Parts: sequence; structure tokens; C-alpha cells
Amino acid sequence: MQFSVASVLLSTLLAARTAYGGTYSLSDTIDAGSFLDNFAFQAIADPTHGRVNYVDLQTAQSEGIITLGNTIRLSADVSGTISASGPGRDSFRVQSNKQYTTHIAVFNVDHMPHGCGTWPAIWELGANWPNGGEVDIVEGVNDVPPNRMTLHTSAGCTMPASRDESGTPLQNDCNVAVNSNAGCGVLENDPNSYGPDFNSNGGGWWAMERTSDEIKIWFWTRNDANTPSDIKNGASSVNTDNWGRPDAYFPNTDCNISSHFSPHNIIINLTFCGDWAGSSSAYSSSGCPDTCVDYVNNNPAGLINAFFEFEWIKIYE
Ligand SMILES: *[C@@H]1O[C@H](CO)[C@@H](O)[C@H](O)[C@H]1NC(C)=O
Ligand SMILES: *[C@@H]1O[C@H](CO)[C@@H](O)[C@H](O)[C@H]1NC(C)=O
Repeated sequence: MQFSVASVLLSTLLAARTAYGGTYSLSDTIDAGSFLDNFAFQAIADPTHGRVNYVDLQTAQSEGIITLGNTIRLSADVSGTISASGPGRDSFRVQSNKQYTTHIAVFNVDHMPHGCGTWPAIWELGANWPNGGEVDIVEGVNDVPPNRMTLHTSAGCTMPASRDESGTPLQNDCNVAVNSNAGCGVLENDPNSYGPDFNSNGGGWWAMERTSDEIKIWFWTRNDANTPSDIKNGASSVNTDNWGRPDAYFPNTDCNISSHFSPHNIIINLTFCGDWAGSSSAYSSSGCPDTCVDYVNNNPAGLINAFFEFEWIKIYE
């Protein structure tokens, strides 16, 4: 009895949200106090062949890879040079314990990793890649702005070449089997969205909205007068209808979002070199010295900016 009343209420609420578009309620607040209840360290091999050694929680705590004070600070270990015969530089890959389908994720970030050889990412991943899909919210390499936002999934998901977004689309086929797994990416038009400029402007906010009809990503630099008040305040509910044109817009015109994207975990990681950052074209064209692997092995002083600092992450459903 109780259950059916609850179900009716729930479906009424869900119907109301669909009808009115973009209102969502806060479901998870992830800050320094709750981070370890919500995210787990994954000491796994990097599938993109990075010069990295992802560590477990205990190692992360003892090496200062994670520091929980007023913020959530996640850093590579840049305390010294590393052996050329070892696996790579100690760093972090953290994954949310929960999975999300229709949701908003807001990341309030003070600092992001940059420096030669760095390849940081804030992203979401489903089961059985590429079938459950991947949404890259923040990604780039070797200090080079702007931020790149990308979907990767199985065949049968493409994006219209022209769509209502402020960023610049790259490839439009999200199928990982074409274009060497470039996915369907969009470059932000704001240089403050990545790297040194992001940090020197005090960071900012990224937000991603996923529904069964579309995926949208926004970025606001710290002092952007257009930052919505619900984002700025980390409000207990948000309305995406007030957020303006997204930086990246991935509609369902030629992509069934429900069948190409399963429930997702949120992942935050920092790798070095590897398939993208370390490729000879990406590394040398960014003006970085030496080879990527030698640089990452031997120049800890060049990697002092290889850390994320989050004020909070909030999930709305
Ligand atoms: C880390 O992030 C990069 C960039 O998104 C990704 O391609 C790579 O697979 C990630 N590595 C792991 C182990 O998650
Ligand atoms: C999209 O995929 C879902 C899940 O597989 C399915 O239920 C739905 O009918 C599909 N929609 C269309 C328009 O094909």
C-alpha cells in the first residue's frame, strides 16, 4: 500500500520534471568531508598506456596524492624523479561509488592539472565500453587550451554538424570504431576553460546535464557575470532552463541516448603521456621539450601544477 502511494508520488514528480524541463534536486554533495564516502581509488593499469602508476587509497594518503582540508586536492606524486624502468609516476584515478542516469553533475574547481605530459580528465563511463558509452566533460593534454568535450560509444550514434552550442564541433560520429576513437568532440571557445588560463582566472564550474533526450555541457570561468546563481551557490535545486546556450550540445536526433549510454560512474584521473598526450604529434606540437616519457620521469619541478583542487561536486537528479 505504502509502496504504491510512494510510486504514484514518484511518478508524478518525475512527470512534473519532464513537463517543466530542467528542474532537478540535489542528491549528493561531495566535498572534503564526504569525498571518501563517495569515491574510491582504482589502482589499475591505464588502458591508454600512460606513463602512470595509479595508486590505492593508502598510498595516496601516505604520498600526499590526496589531501582533504577545505578542498579536495588530488595530485600526482611530484616529490622526485622516477626510475625509467618502473611503471610510471604515481597518480590518481578515482571513481564514484554510485552510478547515475538522468542527472546533473556540477564540478566547482579551483585548480586543474597542467604541464608538459599531463592528461587530466573529468568524465563518466558506462559498463562494457564502448557499449555503455563515455562522456568526457573535461579533457586536454600538455597545457594546450581549450577544453574538449566528447562522447564515445558504439556504432549508430552521430551528431548533426550544426547545432545550438557555443563550442566548435570536431568529428560528428561518436562511434569509437571510426576516426581512431576520436569520438564526437566539441572544443570550447573560451581559453579559460583549460590549463594555465583556467587556473590563473581562479578556476570555475563545469556542469553536465544528461537526460534520455540529450547531453549538454556548460563552463563558466570564476568571474563570469553570466554564471547562474544556482550554480554559484551550489543551490539545493537547479534549473537548467536558466543556464543559457550550452558549450557542447549532443541531441538525440541521430543517436538513441538511452541505448548508447548506460548508467555511468564519474571518474577523475590524471595520466601522463600515453596514446594522446605522449603521441609525437601532440607532444612536440605543444612546444614541450625532450620526449614526453623522459620529461615526466626526470622533471618533477615541471609538474608542480599536476593537481586538481575541487571545492565540491554536486549531483542533482
Ligand atoms: C584517464 O583519462 C584519460 C582521459 O580521459 C582516459 O583516456 C584514460 O583511459 C584514463 N585512464 C584510466 C585508467 O581511466
Ligand atoms: C531507444 O532505446 C531504448 C532502450 O534500448 C528503447 O527502449 C527505445 O525504444 C529506443 N527509442 C527509439 C526511438 O528507438
